[in-house]
Amino acid sequence: MSKLITIANNKGGVGKTTTAINLGAALAELKKKVLLVDLDPQGGLTIGLGLNPDNFEKTIYDVLIGSQLNLKNVAIQTKISGVDLIPANQDLSGAEAELIGEVAWESTLRSVLNDTKDYDYVIIDCPPSLGVLTVNGLVAAQTVIIPLQCEYLAMRGLRQLNKVIEKIRSKVNPKLTTRILRTMHQTRTIHSTDIVEEVEKVFGGKVYNSIIKRTIKFADSSVAGEPVLIYAKNSEAANAYRELAKEVIKYG
Ligand SMILES: Nc1ncnc2c1ncn2[C@@H]1O[C@H](COP(=O)(O)OP(=O)(O)OP(=O)(O)O)[C@@H](O)[C@H]1O
Ligand SMILES: [Mg+2]
Repeated sequence: MSKLITIANNKGGVGKTTTAINLGAALAELKKKVLLVDLDPQGGLTIGLGLNPDNFEKTIYDVLIGSQLNLKNVAIQTKISGVDLIPANQDLSGAEAELIGEVAWESTLRSVLNDTKDYDYVIIDCPPSLGVLTVNGLVAAQTVIIPLQCEYLAMRGLRQLNKVIEKIRSKVNPKLTTRILRTMHQTRTIHSTDIVEEVEKVFGGKVYNSIIKRTIKFADSSVAGEPVLIYAKNSEAANAYRELAKEVIKYG
């Protein structure tokens, strides 16, 4: 059985896509077979892997919207060994409106991901909103990883997301587990360090021990269209995601 992980936070720019790419690459280094699913019409995951979203005839949109396409016909190999991708592009923005008219629209992604036994891990990258696409991502997953920027007020924004997660848990997906990943930590500022500790206090056992520090290497690697694990193989940034992958394998 493959393990389904959704990466979500309705706040933009917190490190969702960066986490999808680098956690995927780190799991693949540990010989896990990984499928990355781009669920953002902006196609950030697709672009971050060095691909042009406009070049794909078939994307996640075609999988979600009615056509009988099999996942295998849409998944493509990436340049990371052991990592496949279901790309996304602007077509997906139309899916929100189209899906909402369907019966059980919130379970559409879950049913198409039924067929992923070839993969050990499926990682779904959500857009920065709490709409139809993110709800589909949360219904499909066993674990939701919430990247949380270590900055003032970051936790405040979680209230809405937590409400949606609670609702999904009580109605359709009781086993959905929440995990918090602290990102963009600036070790030199007292403030960022305070937040790191506060998150631990509020979320306790739900927080990963691995902390992702703020470094320009992530922006540089996404320009290069590569995970930081390849772009800066031996960097602290790459090792932080390797540590995260070990935690994910151990605890989910
Ligand atoms: N730990 C980090 N340190 C510094 N920069 C980072 C870090 N993680 C991500 N970034 C950079 O911050 C920007 C936003 O990251 P990313 O695209 O992963 O966020 P996101 O949550 O997916 O954004 P969106 O909500 O727009 O989809 C990118 O330029 C990325 O390279
Ligand atoms: Mg993103």
